[in-house]
Amino acid sequence: MIGDFSAAPLGPSIDRSSAEKPYALAYDGRTPSVRVGGLNAWYGERQAIADVELDVAPRQVTAIIGPSGCGKSTLIRCLNRMHEVTPGAHAAGSVEVNGVNIYDTGVDPVRVRRVVGMVFQKPNPFPMMTIYDNVVAGLLLQGGAHRRELDEIGERALRQAALWEEVKDHWKKASGASLSGGQQQRLCIARTLAVRPDVILMDEPCSALDPIATYRIEELIGQLKRDYTIAIVTHNMQQASRVSDFTAFMLAEEDRIGRLVEFGQTARIFTNPSERRTEDYITGRFG
Ligand SMILES: Nc1ncnc2c1ncn2[C@@H]1O[C@H](COP(=O)(O)OP(=O)(O)OP(=O)(O)O)[C@@H](O)[C@H]1O
Ligand SMILES: [Mg+2]
Repeated sequence: MIGDFSAAPLGPSIDRSSAEKPYALAYDGRTPSVRVGGLNAWYGERQAIADVELDVAPRQVTAIIGPSGCGKSTLIRCLNRMHEVTPGAHAAGSVEVNGVNIYDTGVDPVRVRRVVGMVFQKPNPFPMMTIYDNVVAGLLLQGGAHRRELDEIGERALRQAALWEEVKDHWKKASGASLSGGQQQRLCIARTLAVRPDVILMDEPCSALDPIATYRIEELIGQLKRDYTIAIVTHNMQQASRVSDFTAFMLAEEDRIGRLVEFGQTARIFTNPSERRTEDYITGRFG
């Protein structure tokens, strides 16, 4: 066992002041809170992504874009060890979260998923549970919290997820399934926030939502990045350019293995990409 990651936080909490180091791949010299190195992932025999190197900057939004099947979901699911939950799937390489390689022996994947939370494409509240029980579900699993604490944390998470005003009168009675799709997605975000992660992964969080609900989630992402490090997969180029600070473009070519083609400041990727393939994709020539 390397350390006791079941109890301790996964590395030091993100601290911008400890920064100022030049990172080759990175952005303005801040300590990355997620550093992906030589990451490969497979489903059984078949390799899905190869040699991904990527830094996810603290308290910034990093968008992951690329055509269908290029490995975006696979990559993001490797960042909190969700990938290996798929039968037969495995990953190799390193993903450092706050300086700890989450693939090291002795690291508890459950603990990892608490520090690196995830919001899925389709809102997935537990339908038989109340809004309240949905929000505090992760905390109940952890155990140890008292009812009053749960109330406070639940309310705070719903406020952070910009859902509180809409549910405060009935959150302890109404079921999660009684909410609209956009509200359900904010409920899922609240559920993720309640366990106080450092990093939030979102896999196409708006793809099932209408434009107004999408706008609200995008607005929320803008607010959340003050406190959290966010990586978001999106098919929507406008969304990537609206919400993200950094963009990673992935592509699977003839061998159907997804690789990172280009990574950089979103403004540059969208106006002056260095790779022809990036330009072709963002201008809609393929994908
Ligand atoms: N559960 C699975 N079992 C086997 N192969 C899988 C599984 N999930 C994904 N793959 C394969 O891995 C590759 C990458 O898939 P992934 O879902 O990561 O792509 P994606 O970029 O997220 O695509 P999309 O934009 O359509 O969501 C694809 O070739 C896909 O067929
Ligand atoms: Mg996907």
